[in-house]
Amino acid sequence: MAEPVRVVSKRFGIPDSHTLGVYLEHDGYVALEKALKSMQPADVIEEVKKSALRGRGGAGFPTGMKWSFVPKDSPKPKYIVCNADESEPGTFKDRALMENDPHSLIEGCLIAAYALGSHTCYIYIRGEYGWVQDGMDAAIREAYEKGYCGKNILGTDFSCDVYTHPGAGAYICGEETALLNSLEGKRGHPRIKPPFPAVEGLYGCPTVVNNVETLATVPWIVQHGGDAFRQLGTEKSGGTRLVSVCGHVNKPGVYEIPLGYPMKDLLEKECGGIRNGNKLKAVIPGGSSVPIITAEEAYSVKLDFESIGEVGSMLGSGGVIVMDETADIFESTFRLVHFYKHESCGWCTPCRDGSDWMEQLFDRIAIGGGRQEDLALITSLGKNIEGKSHCALADALVWPITSSMKKFPEDYQRAIERSRKLLHEPAAV
Ligand SMILES: Cc1cc2nc3c(=O)[nH]c(=O)nc-3n(C[C@H](O)[C@H](O)[C@H](O)COP(=O)(O)O)c2cc1C
Ligand code: SF4
Repeated sequence: MAEPVRVVSKRFGIPDSHTLGVYLEHDGYVALEKALKSMQPADVIEEVKKSALRGRGGAGFPTGMKWSFVPKDSPKPKYIVCNADESEPGTFKDRALMENDPHSLIEGCLIAAYALGSHTCYIYIRGEYGWVQDGMDAAIREAYEKGYCGKNILGTDFSCDVYTHPGAGAYICGEETALLNSLEGKRGHPRIKPPFPAVEGLYGCPTVVNNVETLATVPWIVQHGGDAFRQLGTEKSGGTRLVSVCGHVNKPGVYEIPLGYPMKDLLEKECGGIRNGNKLKAVIPGGSSVPIITAEEAYSVKLDFESIGEVGSMLGSGGVIVMDETADIFESTFRLVHFYKHESCGWCTPCRDGSDWMEQLFDRIAIGGGRQEDLALITSLGKNIEGKSHCALADALVWPITSSMKKFPEDYQRAIERSRKLLHEPAAV
């Protein structure tokens, strides 16, 4: 069988792949030159539309369509903002990309800027990724020195600056409008939408916010054509994508798969199967914010936007969290509840107070004193949070809870029984 085509990870594993010299030996900046010297900005947007590329940051919004929302006749400056905040539990593919191939991200940013008439790109990098920002800064310096960034790039009349910016150390700063506030030096609260960033973003100007992987994919699309990329995946889910696999597999790591790839193959071929020969119990397929699926669903589902929707989940940020038969789904969900409660920015009441109550309910069950009625209370509380807050963090708190209660009711029942015993049989001191 032919080797799967690697798009964004094609330079991973090449010694010194992060340097400009090695990048140039492996198709580096070929697409930028092609775009600047032989394509109109509208042609670039058209190729990205044809590719069926969908955002790799979580929501999966079609990239070409997002770019076409930017008003062409606006007198204001336009900005490209790369979302490299990567804080979703289970997700570490953007870090791998920036460490191994920083120039592909710079090239993607520059092509996006050319397509959209922008002259400034900001790469907002998760605060805890200090060394990654250092690596990006070194690559940007190299690109300036050799004329790939700055004034009159490659001898054309296109000029563009690229800057990095450290994230504020909060998960909410990955939400695109909170990110823009943070980049402006304000507190990282999300903004009310509309207006969407494409129309009113950074400093009130038209702004495209795209994920690291989304932008790093663009050079390949421009070099080989949108159709070639789309054909690597399925009709509606174009191309390939990175997934970061963690948890109870023998070979956790970052893998590039064509969309439509069977999850079973990912787990067994790429990841070497479940650890210790154990049985698979559950998978969270797209970072902690998406609904959990059972082993049966995981073994039958294909990794594309449509198929994963049929089992009630999402591809999200590509973070695949694998749990074997030893996992207690109540306990693992409790960890996530704690995470979302801690990361709620506190702006809206259902999320701020609801996440706190939710954590208290899980805590009571965990330490003793949980009641059978608590399960109905959790469901009812979830209904009062989901869809009733300003941003998707609140939904991200509720989905793992409701999906795990539905798909693993026995783990919740066991937790209630354990809780009752704990109350009536206090631990010996
Ligand atoms: C709470 C929250 C955290 C998010 N964190 C990230 C993140 O770390 N990286 C990212 O690319 N998108 C993140 N997103 C999604 C962004 O809001 C936005 O959809 C994305 O950056 C758009 O890029 P894309 O179209 O290329 O996917 C987050 C969304 C929410 C609600
Ligand atoms: S839903 Fe939560 S995280 Fe989002 S704005 Fe409201 S309080 Fe903040």
